[in-house]
Amino acid sequence: MHSLNVKKSRYLSLLLLFLFFVPVSCVQKRLGINNNIIYRNGMVVCAYPDAAQVGLDILKKGGNAVDAAVAVQFALAVTLPEAGNIGGGGFMVYRSKTGESNTLDFREKGPAEANVNMYLDSAGNVIPNMSLYTHKASGVPGSVDGMVQAHSKYGKLKWADLVQPAIDLARNGFKITKHLAADLNHTSGQFKKLNPGKTYLMKEGEWQEGDILIQEDLAKTFEQIRDKGRDGFYNGVVADQLVAEMKNGDGLISKADLQNYHSVWRKPIIGNYKGYKIITMPPPSSGGIALLQLLQSVERYPLKRWGYNQDSTVRLIVEAERRVYADRSKYLGDPDFYKVPVDSLLRPAYITARMSSFSWDAATPSTSIQPGTFIGYESDQTTHYSIVDGDGNAVSITTTLNDTFGSRIFVQGAGFLLNNEMDDFSSKPGIPNMYGLVGGKANSIQPGKRMLSCMTPTIVEKNGKLFMVVGTPGGSTIITSVFQTIIDVIEFDQNMQQAVASKRFHSQWLPDEVATEAGALDSATVIKLQSKGYKITGRGGIGRVDAILKTKQGYEGGADPRGDDTKLGY
Ligand code: DON
Repeated sequence: MHSLNVKKSRYLSLLLLFLFFVPVSCVQKRLGINNNIIYRNGMVVCAYPDAAQVGLDILKKGGNAVDAAVAVQFALAVTLPEAGNIGGGGFMVYRSKTGESNTLDFREKGPAEANVNMYLDSAGNVIPNMSLYTHKASGVPGSVDGMVQAHSKYGKLKWADLVQPAIDLARNGFKITKHLAADLNHTSGQFKKLNPGKTYLMKEGEWQEGDILIQEDLAKTFEQIRDKGRDGFYNGVVADQLVAEMKNGDGLISKADLQNYHSVWRKPIIGNYKGYKIITMPPPSSGGIALLQLLQSVERYPLKRWGYNQDSTVRLIVEAERRVYADRSKYLGDPDFYKVPVDSLLRPAYITARMSSFSWDAATPSTSIQPGTFIGYESDQTTHYSIVDGDGNAVSITTTLNDTFGSRIFVQGAGFLLNNEMDDFSSKPGIPNMYGLVGGKANSIQPGKRMLSCMTPTIVEKNGKLFMVVGTPGGSTIITSVFQTIIDVIEFDQNMQQAVASKRFHSQWLPDEVATEAGALDSATVIKLQSKGYKITGRGGIGRVDAILKTKQGYEGGADPRGDDTKLGY
């Protein structure tokens, strides 16, 4: 007994010594609990480790969530060239520590020269890839203006201090991960083809994990942004470079387009799910409305009793998704150009009526429009980051170039990639875009109009307090991934990391199928669903959710294991 106690106390002192001298993160890693560390003060979850570190440093310096978001946005433009950007756009949902909320729309806009038939040939057919991999595929970028607006309204630290980390990362370089090396290698042929005579992001031979990526031109562009703010991008040398690039490649974006670009503060879309308040993005995202429609559609059913990814749960969700994506194709577009019937779409009686055609006997067929083909279906390169600061202010931002590396065309001399967001417009009614989404008049191309988006940055409150900050990339699967993550936590009691890592399934009306990640549904469930007429297909990763949950103990992060996503807190 005595020797046992001696042994025990020896072990105890050894453990204390160990805990004292070994950094906490190391201990947590060794004890295998680093996947669910609770942080008391603040947290950053984003898609690249170096960018997460930049955000955390800003929080620790006393910056608030918006300061950290600006720094993360720019750091991701360096470290995650697939999606992080200054040549694209995005959406921010903000909730202050006292519960006021706001959203910022920094989505790209159609250039003044854009027109409804710009991707059609003389016979009226869509010209393949024209809205994707040409200079004409780019909308007028909104990210820099968005960050300037967000900072001037809510920021605390000096602008220059938020841009500087991006300059340092671009100039000094950073180690590339296996994923980034693979993405760069995979796209190198297209980079060469679309950027003859240029070298940015290209090298002799293959990129390897651990290579250092230096982007001197991008560092210079960021110096302009650091020193001149908005004018550093929309006027002066960078604007000249962008317009010259457009002229060389027969693109449309002009000096006037750049000067006229302004992001817009919009009233959030707010709804309820079983007492949780959902604060999310209004049009020109379809995400917020669709998310609330989905939540309302399933609210009165006993999901918890049916269980996570069980056949009744899946059937109900798929039927809700079918109806919601059908609405999206007709009614959703840029509210500055098209009157989106927000209230009607969210009216409880309307949702109930929509769901009344759902029958347990068989799947409802989606037959009204030709099914889409899915070019680039596997790509998931938009990016989302969630941030909470020491005071409890929260930021949820999803930002994108659209496809992985956008149009794959970069601005000569300025070292950044251009978006191919124009593909999110409906090039022709009923013809699917790269995500298989169809649209019509509401989302037709017009000069100065914003293309419809699925991006769904969202903040959830419980009892008037911050509960969750959530969002994801994934094209059309964004809405369903955000929806499933929320449901996984609220209904199926998953913690944040589990919910983010959970295997997902997705259905979007057209094509009439249920796309599933490997392992999302067990074989008995698949057989049951098939027997009721559901077409089950397999696909690669669905979404890359980065989220934060506020629990009694503190902040719990969920960094999606499908990528290099990283959660850091303090
Ligand atoms: O705004 C949208 O909905 C799309 N441009 C997002 C693209 C995306 O998530 C890329 N990943 N698949």
